[in-house]
Amino acid sequence: MAGDPDADAATTPTAESLFDLTGAVAVITGGARGIGQAAARALGRHGASLVLFDRLREQLEHTTRELCEAGTTTEFVVGDVRSAADLARLTDVAASLGPVDIVVNSAGVIRRMDIQDMTLEDLDWLWDVNVRGLVAVTQAFLPQMIERRGGKVINLGSLGSVTGLELRTAYATTKGAVTQYTVSLAAEVGRYGICVNAVAPGYVTTDMAGKWINAEPERAAALLARIPLGRFATPADLEGIFAFLGSRASDYITGQVFLVDGGWTAT
Ligand SMILES: NC(=O)c1ccc[n+]([C@@H]2O[C@H](COP(=O)([O-])OP(=O)(O)OC[C@H]3O[C@@H](n4cnc5c(N)ncnc54)[C@H](O)[C@@H]3O)[C@@H](O)[C@H]2O)c1
Repeated sequence: MAGDPDADAATTPTAESLFDLTGAVAVITGGARGIGQAAARALGRHGASLVLFDRLREQLEHTTRELCEAGTTTEFVVGDVRSAADLARLTDVAASLGPVDIVVNSAGVIRRMDIQDMTLEDLDWLWDVNVRGLVAVTQAFLPQMIERRGGKVINLGSLGSVTGLELRTAYATTKGAVTQYTVSLAAEVGRYGICVNAVAPGYVTTDMAGKWINAEPERAAALLARIPLGRFATPADLEGIFAFLGSRASDYITGQVFLVDGGWTAT
């Protein structure tokens, strides 16, 4: 009945219900550690069942155990995003949990070098994982999202998606491609109710960036001086954006690049 406060209370979403992922299935590549692990923790905490995919068996087992102990249904698949056979195993395992609602593409690699040392082989290697692999994973799950008229794809960009990154030209080239793929795919599959967004973190103290940042105190200080919030990110700083983009709270948001950079790009 219109104006009935009880009926309104039953239909008005609460913060809790907006972020509730009970019954959802999420696939997370690069889920063994770092930012992918943070995505797993965030989505799992809100009720999603998970399939983690990574080439690192030991870390996968460790993260899976942690999530299961926290009460999250979690499976893992050891594999490489460059391998069609491994992705076929991933889709099989995911199917055992149900149709996939969320795909987080966090598997990625970096190689830092002076532009004069950069070879086309460096570019090929980065491209194969960061772009081709990401596209292959997404394509593996798109048909079921289209069929079910809904889904969330969350791709990992970088500061290199939107700004220049010296000594990382090849890496930034791949991350620019990731955001172009993100917005183009969003434009194409919006008609099926599928949301495609990118998260572009600043400097996060994971295996990928932490050691490099701290290897030279002067470099660490110079980077820090450019971050308005005055600290590097931890993977936990990314959990909120994953919970948001995976949930119905973001159902009208697609084709966006979310900079989670402590304000780096604001300066
Ligand atoms: N750490 C940062 O500062 C930072 C900043 C911006 C963007 N990113 C991006 O975030 C994503 C995650 O980075 P991270 O910092 O967690 O790095 P990380 O190295 O800690 O984790 C990346 C994970 O991806 C996996 N992986 C790499 N290549 C793979 C392949 N071919 N097949 C399957 N798995 C593979 C690795 O085994 C690892 O577990 C990457 O795409 C990275 O480019 C990271």
